[in-house]
Amino acid sequence: MAVCINNLNVWLGSAQILKDINLQFKKQRITAIVGPSGCGKTTLLRSINRTAELEEGFRCSGKILLNGKNIYQSRDVSGIRRKMGLVLQTPVALPLSIKENVIFGARYCRGKNKQELDEINERCLKQAGLWEEVKNKLNKPAAELSGGQKQRLSIARVLAVEPEVLLLDEPCSSLDPASTKVIEELLIQLSRQLTVVLVTHNLFQAQRVAHDTIFMMEGTVVERGPTGVMFSNPQKQETRAFFSGLIW
Ligand SMILES: Nc1ncnc2c1ncn2[C@@H]1O[C@H](COP(=O)(O)OP(=O)(O)O)[C@@H](O)[C@H]1O
Ligand SMILES: [Mg+2]
Repeated sequence: MAVCINNLNVWLGSAQILKDINLQFKKQRITAIVGPSGCGKTTLLRSINRTAELEEGFRCSGKILLNGKNIYQSRDVSGIRRKMGLVLQTPVALPLSIKENVIFGARYCRGKNKQELDEINERCLKQAGLWEEVKNKLNKPAAELSGGQKQRLSIARVLAVEPEVLLLDEPCSSLDPASTKVIEELLIQLSRQLTVVLVTHNLFQAQRVAHDTIFMMEGTVVERGPTGVMFSNPQKQETRAFFSGLIW
């Protein structure tokens, strides 16, 4: 099991945001997390990549294991953040060239020379399905790319530091249907090598790409299972209500 979460509780100040979360994310699978706004999806992803602790008043109990090791006992916090790559809702294009955007993180870990960085750039742009579109303008500002291209650029930047787990927080919410389709196909491809966790508010997207689906509400996991089973035969009343659009 790539990621194993045992009895995770998270507080921000006096508010308990995540309550007794027990989950596993498997390698070579896409797991979708769905649930009403404010139920704790982003906090869960940020707890998994150890950026939630940057919030004032963050406190947690329980365990998050990556390949059997508790990530909260690791002293190498930036190493954990690299292994648990997080792609945000709004595509991030740094005010740099396309290539500099891709190698931004890779440049600072394990001193790489120019040729290695060029190879990383090409490999990750290919993996992110963006190479053909940008190979002739690698030194142009990334700001010139479309929203969908910027989101694939963000994915390339995360891939460049060789994550084991790819966490995505509503990555298509600002994209048009065509760009969304490109990203979905990309995630299916990437899941052959990585563990993919996809927070989405789009239930159709979960059904299209996710092997497993988790439904959260008010900081707890209500139900989880293989996506087909979850959508065709949810066991809990709340899951049924959410999937039929009665709560959001
Ligand atoms: N920095 C913070 N301090 C206190 N509460 C927060 C903070 N950030 C988020 N929250 C609260 O945590 C809950 C979960 O938020 P979030 O993880 O963003 O949910 P989701 O991504 O599912 O919409 C919400 O009630 C939100 O108001
Ligand atoms: Mg969120």
